[in-house]
Amino acid sequence: MIIDIEKIVHGGYGLGRIEKKVYFVPFSIPKERIEIEPIAQKKDYTIAKPLKILEKSPHRIEPKCPYFGICGGCHFQHIDYKEQLNQKSLILKETLKKIGHIDVDIKDILYDEPYYYRNRVKFQVQNKEIGFVGFYGDFVKIESCPISSKAINDLIPFLKEFSKHFNPNWISVFYSETQKEYTVKFSSKDFVDKEKLKKFKEHLSPKNLVGITLAKENKLEDKVIFSIGTPFSFLELFGIKYRISLNSFFQVNIGVVKKLINILDLTDGFGKVLDNYGGVGLFGLLIAKYAKEVKISDLNKSSVNDAEYSAKL
Ligand SMILES: C[S@@+](CC[C@H](N)C(=O)[O-])C[C@H]1O[C@@H](n2cnc3c(N)ncnc32)[C@H](O)[C@@H]1O
Repeated sequence: MIIDIEKIVHGGYGLGRIEKKVYFVPFSIPKERIEIEPIAQKKDYTIAKPLKILEKSPHRIEPKCPYFGICGGCHFQHIDYKEQLNQKSLILKETLKKIGHIDVDIKDILYDEPYYYRNRVKFQVQNKEIGFVGFYGDFVKIESCPISSKAINDLIPFLKEFSKHFNPNWISVFYSETQKEYTVKFSSKDFVDKEKLKKFKEHLSPKNLVGITLAKENKLEDKVIFSIGTPFSFLELFGIKYRISLNSFFQVNIGVVKKLINILDLTDGFGKVLDNYGGVGLFGLLIAKYAKEVKISDLNKSSVNDAEYSAKL
């Protein structure tokens, strides 16, 4: 079957139609003509695998990551970065219109480095190997991840060693760029001996790994079983020291955060501010310097506790 891709939709699929039927094609780009093979029939659409690109977009590039296309983490590495930003803004515009009935013009898109930026990564572990959930739901073993920070990539050999001892299901790593330290959270199928973990942290872990937390996956917030060291790190930005616990939300791309904060107009002074969906208070704590009062609200208790803690520093 041959299809012309019209646009990219939420989730990264290219959308095309054949005889009024909708097809979602991963790793495609608008205006491309592709030979496809249907692989899954859904109620309103069909998912199809791209077999051959018959007419190639000028935005198509060679993906940097050797696991792209099999790993489920990235959807756009086959598109040049400027066009990725354009496509993502079109997806946002369409989502705002569809769900919120808001028509906006998106300009001045902020961006930073396309690679080696993520400060938090959740690795899956299978047979003591490190990887990610694959694009088709399977496990994909990796040796490196070019969208994770260099520091997180440097920790992968240690995570493999850690996996041999504690048989994790997954390991989540946060790296604070300003404190140059790691915090790690994991869950395990096996019983984890606290003393053994303590000794492992003392003798076999990098010195800048400040805390290892055993947790159980939970929908809203993982249940903490115990921690060796600290279950949080700090990050200093624009004169604020943010505490970031392992169960809290924090933006993954610090480069973009810095640019975002730089465009805030903080000179005029604020009255009463409500930072809804405020996380650990990234914006609220900064605005508090210029406002009469700031309230930070979030569904995630860990984030709110961090915001409260950081506000007192
Ligand atoms: C993308 S984060 C942004 C956090 C913060 N503004 C920042 O930029 O760091 C969105 C936050 O919304 C919170 N959240 C999601 N659904 C929520 C809800 N229904 N009510 C309150 N907070 C919610 C999440 O816990 C998360 O911390």
